[in-house]
Amino acid sequence: MEDAIAVRGLVVDRGGRRVLDGIDATVPRGSVTGLLGPSGSGKTTLMRAIVGVQVITAGTVTVLGAPAGSAQLRHRVGYLTQAPSVYADLTVRENVRYFAALHGRGRAEADRAMTDVGLASAAGQLVGTLSGGQRSRASLACALVGEPELVVLDEPTVGQDPVLRADLWARFHELAAAGTALLVSSHVMDEAARCDRLLLIREGRLIADDTPAAVRAAAGVDDLDEAFLRLIRAGEAGGPAGSAAGEA
Ligand SMILES: Nc1ncnc2c1ncn2[C@@H]1O[C@H](COP(=O)(O)OP(=O)(O)OP(=O)(O)O)[C@@H](O)[C@H]1O
Ligand SMILES: [Mg+2]
Repeated sequence: MEDAIAVRGLVVDRGGRRVLDGIDATVPRGSVTGLLGPSGSGKTTLMRAIVGVQVITAGTVTVLGAPAGSAQLRHRVGYLTQAPSVYADLTVRENVRYFAALHGRGRAEADRAMTDVGLASAAGQLVGTLSGGQRSRASLACALVGEPELVVLDEPTVGQDPVLRADLWARFHELAAAGTALLVSSHVMDEAARCDRLLLIREGRLIADDTPAAVRAAAGVDDLDEAFLRLIRAGEAGGPAGSAAGEA
């Protein structure tokens, strides 16, 4: 089966600077792919290109077999932006039902999405009165409620406690098991370890595209946190991945 996302030679300039510099990557269906990299490395920009809201300079981005941003993808791709995008003057339930309706879904799907993100008990609360973490989850419920084939989540677990994060990751894997493709950005290494595959970017270039185990092996360490530090620093030194392994 074709990949959910195929990015070829992607170049993006923002504010007169090259932000993505020749990205080639694929994201398979039925699995969770992590997108990692330092702050400012281009994760959000890559996600924007995938959901079709980013002007690109060169390359192609194919999503579910169609060019990114095509009208036919509107109901097939869910996107959680890095900053929550929900209506503050509506309740959680009203927000989620509104997004459900946009995707031809009903109350049952809305209830399911609110339960999935742990917000069933806050369903009647105005989004403007939620805590930051709750607001993020309300936004996540809106991204998931349309039951999209591809889910692009920009730091979905920021501000969430460990129990909620574990629950959310369990749900992501359930969705993957049902055939959904998920692309999830994160700064948290224990989350990276939960991914089936990892894309690691640094300064707009892909420096690793592999399983967590292979990333550890490439860096020559068992700890994924340390592996990323080594891969990032190896790139900064201009050497091949893993070349910093003997430093200190
Ligand atoms: N609207 C914009 N105009 C100009 N430059 C931008 C704009 N948005 C982002 N950039 C720049 O593009 C680069 C990549 O930003 P991006 O938001 O993709 O990074 P990121 O990896 O998502 O970072 P973070 O982990 O902090 O969310 C950064 O150098 C950033 O300053
Ligand atoms: Mg970002």
